[in-house]
Amino acid sequence: MFFNRIFSQTLIPSIEGICTFFYTSSSFLDNKETNCWELLTNFALMYFNNILETIGNTPMVKLNRVMREVEATVVAKVETTNPGNSIKDRMALRIIEDAEKSGALKPGGIIVEGTSGNTGMGLAIAGVVKGYKCIFVTTDKQSKEKVDMLQAVGAEVHVCPTDVEPDDAQSYYSVSKRLSEETPNAFYANQYHNLSNRQAHYESTGPEIWEQTEGKITHLVVGVGTGGTISGVGKYLKEQNPEIKILGIDTYGSIFKKYHETGEFDKNEIYPYITEGIGEDILPENVDFSVIDHFEKVRDKDGLIFQRRLAREEGILVGNSCGSAAAGVVQMKNRFGPKDLVVVIFHDHASRYVGKAFNDQWMKKMNFLK
Ligand SMILES: Cc1ncc(COP(=O)(O)O)c(C=O)c1O
Repeated sequence: MFFNRIFSQTLIPSIEGICTFFYTSSSFLDNKETNCWELLTNFALMYFNNILETIGNTPMVKLNRVMREVEATVVAKVETTNPGNSIKDRMALRIIEDAEKSGALKPGGIIVEGTSGNTGMGLAIAGVVKGYKCIFVTTDKQSKEKVDMLQAVGAEVHVCPTDVEPDDAQSYYSVSKRLSEETPNAFYANQYHNLSNRQAHYESTGPEIWEQTEGKITHLVVGVGTGGTISGVGKYLKEQNPEIKILGIDTYGSIFKKYHETGEFDKNEIYPYITEGIGEDILPENVDFSVIDHFEKVRDKDGLIFQRRLAREEGILVGNSCGSAAAGVVQMKNRFGPKDLVVVIFHDHASRYVGKAFNDQWMKKMNFLK
């Protein structure tokens, strides 16, 4: 695992590459005393050229106490060790790199995006390193901590009302689109419909999960927002083994589950909810419904309570949608047998929710705690 992590970073593409380098290097041949272990250790001490090189290669951790009622082994892919503390760093960097290649993002350009916070953080960090300014549009439902953090990395943030139709001029979709059209030299990242999003997960998150489980994964459980994570990872895993079941976590108040099961876009399914990061009132192009076997809806309260349990019973500090995903695993326990290996993706860090799930007064005010 240790070497796996080192060699899979961009610094050292492969062990084969290192051996070729040393065997052909005259300094190596001159110094017969050189111990191969020392050489490898020196490589392990090398540093990254910038923070973006630390994205990915996140740990997988077994869930113990909170999964007592589930017969299968359940492991979490904990994405909080990315530099922006969320999985979205992966796709944010990929969106920027693809836009640079296509010419859509030019030197000194301005990145505009509608974001609930995590994608914004990924874009902002990459923007700092690569020299792009960011303008973000978010909703008043998102934690204040998320907005503060985006401003901390130099982004301009506009907050829009949540409770309006997607095509309303005040909605965060409309405002971000308008700002991208009005701002000179702007690039609209468009995480919902930009397919670089799911491609990032197809190329990084999916292969990591396959490798870390040595191909033994039987079920993947993922909260669905833009759909980039579930679609990219799901496609990669199904290509390796079509028997793997891909299970999406949805919220009450979102259209995904009904659309997946009936093909109907039912507006009656759409109403306000508390859970952050998952569920939608639009159909993002990044959702590839063909790789998803089932959607499970999880109530706000159950997700929030589970988020707190992950902290107190596992010592795992993660966000709201992670609580929903873990609660969803327990809700779906009859789908798993004792030999199954279930991987649940934990998208982001608990620090963004200190004023909500981790604040007893807020939980009581919302009637989620007595
Ligand atoms: C906290 C959190 N969880 C889950 C998701 C869903 O991931 P995806 O957009 O890849 O479907 C997001 C996306 O914004 C998120 O921010």
